[in-house]
Amino acid sequence: LNNGLALTPQMGWNSWNFFGCNINETVIKETADALISTGLADLGYNFLNIDDCWSAVRRNWKGQLEPDPKTFPSGIKALADYVHEKGLKLGIYSDAGVFTCQVRPGSLFHEDDDAKLFASWGVDYLKYDNCYNLGIKPKERYPPMRDALNSTGRTIFYSLCEWGVDDPALWAGKVGNSWRTTDDINDTWVSMTTIADMNDKWASYAGPGGWNDPDMLEVGNGGMTYAEYRSHFSIWALMKAPLLIGCDVRNMTAETLEILSNKEVIAVNQDPLGVQGRKVLAEGNGGCGQVWSGPLSKGRMVITLWNRCSETVTISVTLDILGLDTATTYSARDSWKHETLEENVTISFGAPVDVHDCKMYIFSPITSVSVS
Ligand code: GLA
Repeated sequence: LNNGLALTPQMGWNSWNFFGCNINETVIKETADALISTGLADLGYNFLNIDDCWSAVRRNWKGQLEPDPKTFPSGIKALADYVHEKGLKLGIYSDAGVFTCQVRPGSLFHEDDDAKLFASWGVDYLKYDNCYNLGIKPKERYPPMRDALNSTGRTIFYSLCEWGVDDPALWAGKVGNSWRTTDDINDTWVSMTTIADMNDKWASYAGPGGWNDPDMLEVGNGGMTYAEYRSHFSIWALMKAPLLIGCDVRNMTAETLEILSNKEVIAVNQDPLGVQGRKVLAEGNGGCGQVWSGPLSKGRMVITLWNRCSETVTISVTLDILGLDTATTYSARDSWKHETLEENVTISFGAPVDVHDCKMYIFSPITSVSVS
């Protein structure tokens, strides 16, 4: 969507994956504080997004949405002020249907009023869900909220959550800043890998202004191993997915923070070229030894060797398959070890990778200085 936003994928935090409906203004404020104190905000995680269940179960007598008086007694405006004071942005959630998925009031047929209200509260981001949609096509229900947000005069990031219904990549580029390509993620290896493959299909439709959204991060929620979370984070970064943290950042392990804070991997996600990387090779048993790659700015390329097998394997690829110039030599920087390999790469490249783990490298062309 051409609203000046999402030149790179959005980064931040969302309440749903860890808290579900169990949210309140204290949790949100403490999360704002934690994003600052952990250094995550400085790394770019600046959207603090409240998901479903912030609102009262009914509209008020004026027909307006209202925050749940028990859990958000100070109101959303006060929360937005709190968050803005810390240099963060506030996101809210509604639904392109008559109810949200947790049966709070939806915004279908209330687009203008609700957009105005969100803008008056100082909201910076709207996630717009797809429940109770009366069987009306997403293509018809999502544009009215885009127009309503646009008319408020406030710049508001518009995140479509239509679960991949009706292949949004084909039409949502003009509607939203990101669109979901799949159903909800859950905190398992099977869910994460399935979603990665589904999202891969739409790679060519992503770019500055609008991104494929394979759903929020599960890193730190406990259902996957360290290696699996590292793969999850690496592949999401490479696919130019939104990096929306979904764990309790007030209580993270050092390992979780280390994954989410990897500057070199974040830089892949936020690279100004904005091209979604893809799966370029799947070898071995059922194609479990995989290579995912994509171009980066300054003639560089990100290459991820991803072991989806049940044993350690060596994964190799040629420059040819990567679409790189076979006559050029490349330096390879390991984005997780934070070191540049001693040996440069010509013709082909490979490395052993642990079970469900990945290795991510940035290849940079070495320009030879000609001596005359
Ligand atoms: C849907 C969305 C989720 C979350 C829940 C909230 O399932 O896809 O991301 O927002 O609704 O109810």
